Formats: sequence, C-alpha cells, structure tokens
Amino acid sequence: MSDIRNIVILTGAGISAESGIDTFRSAGGLWEQHNVEDVATPEGFARDPALVLNFYDMRREALCKVAPNPAHDALARLDAEFSGELLIVTQNVDDLHERAGASRVLHMHGELKSALCTSCEMRSPWNATLSDRPPCPVCQAPTLRPDVVWFGEMPYQMERIYRAIREADLFVSIGTSGAVYPAAGFVRDARDLGVQTLELNLERSEGSHWFHESRQGRAGELVPAWVEELLR
Ligand code: OAD
Repeated sequence: MSDIRNIVILTGAGISAESGIDTFRSAGGLWEQHNVEDVATPEGFARDPALVLNFYDMRREALCKVAPNPAHDALARLDAEFSGELLIVTQNVDDLHERAGASRVLHMHGELKSALCTSCEMRSPWNATLSDRPPCPVCQAPTLRPDVVWFGEMPYQMERIYRAIREADLFVSIGTSGAVYPAAGFVRDARDLGVQTLELNLERSEGSHWFHESRQGRAGELVPAWVEELLR
C-alpha cells in the first residue's frame, strides 16, 4: 500500500462501541431506547425542548466516564505518522478521536461538546449542561441547543468532504451501518471516482457490497492491524 498518498476515513458509532458508548441500531441501541423523532429532529425539539436538552446533557455527561479505545489510538497514530493527506470524517458526536490525539478530524454530525445558538447561530465550545438554559456566550440570549445535526438538517462541511473524496486514493469506512445518508453514499461517490474502498466493521453493513474489500471484526482489533499494514 506504499502508493497511498491521500486517505479519507469515515467513522461511525461502531468505533466507539468498545469504549462503552451505545451504537444506534444494535439490539438495545440508542434508537431502541429513545424515539428518534422525539430527540433527534428539529420538530421534536420544538415540541419538548426540556426532553431533548436533558437527553444530550446525559450523553455529554456520559462522555466523562469513557476513554478512547485501541481503534481511536490507531487512527491517532496514523494521523501522526502518515505523511500524506488524511481526513477523518466522523459521524460521531463524541470527542474520542481528539482525546486519542488525532487532529485531522471533521465532525459532520456536530459535537456534544459544542452548543449552537438559535438566535445568533454561533457555535461555542460547551462542557456544561444546556437544560438549565444558560446564556449564549456570544449574544447572551438563553437560546442554546446541542450542536448536533438532527434528521432533516444538513450535515457540516459537505463541500470539504466531497473535495477530500475527489482527491483521495483510498476511502475507508469504520464502524458504521451505512443506514444514514449522505455518509452512506460516500462509498459509491468514491468508487465512481476510481478511489479504492475498504470497510472495517463488526458485520457486513448495508452497503458492504459497494466496497472493494470488507473485513469483519471488532474495530479495536481491525483498525490497529490495518494501520500497522499501511505504515509498514
Ligand atoms: P449504527 O448504530 O447505525 O451502526 C454501527 C455499526 O457499527 C453497525 O454496523 C455495527 O455492526 C458496527 N459495530 C458495532 N460494534 C462494533 C465494533 N466493536 N467494531 C466495529 N464495528 C462495530 O451507527 P452509525 O452508522 O454511526 O446520526 O449511525 C449513523 C448515524 O445514525 C449517526 O451518526 C446518528 C444516527 O442516527 C444522527 O443522529 C444524525
């Protein structure tokens, strides 16, 4: 793989599963415990803001009790040692890539540790609760919401992601079910452009057949092995 100079990696909830964060669609996952329409749509927020703010406060608080796992560590190692272009596009709203030490990370679905003001539209780093309706650090209005992308909203930085895929020679998808667009479509975009594609997932995902290669197993084992292979 020594001819690989430009990599785009897409990560999903499966990469954080071994850290103890629930995935969305597994048995007992987040979308079995909660109604998506209630906690992950603008309409749900308009209907019952307290429920939504509490849900994300609990998820943010839970982040303090978990740590990056060997898969996050391996991508941080890749970020540090790979001299070519790299972009880690994550659908995850946790901060485990950053805590492992990776810096070339783009959160397309937003971040738990960020707040978005519905009055001035500014995004502010956020570590505290939102359910007590604190003022926006920029405009002082008590109108902060979680800075996460809900169903029906546009993910962040799509232009930058598509540009990175166009310029890549390898696209790798890690720990994602391929159920949610636009991320689920990246593999086909990459293939159409002649980019090599690799999937690392616990099981074959909905889009597995689109990948040139699909490896099944736990991210904590597959990702360090793949990074070792690439850097060797
Ligand atoms: P899903 O819960 O849909 O899928 C997680 C994937 O990870 C599944 O295919 C699992 O088989 C796999 N998996 C589980 N444990 C794993 C492990 N230890 N190692 C490797 N793979 C493992 O989560 P996402 O695909 O990330 O969006 O979901 C995409 C989006 O749907 C999320 O960003 C979220 C959700 O609704 C929004 O909230 C907008």
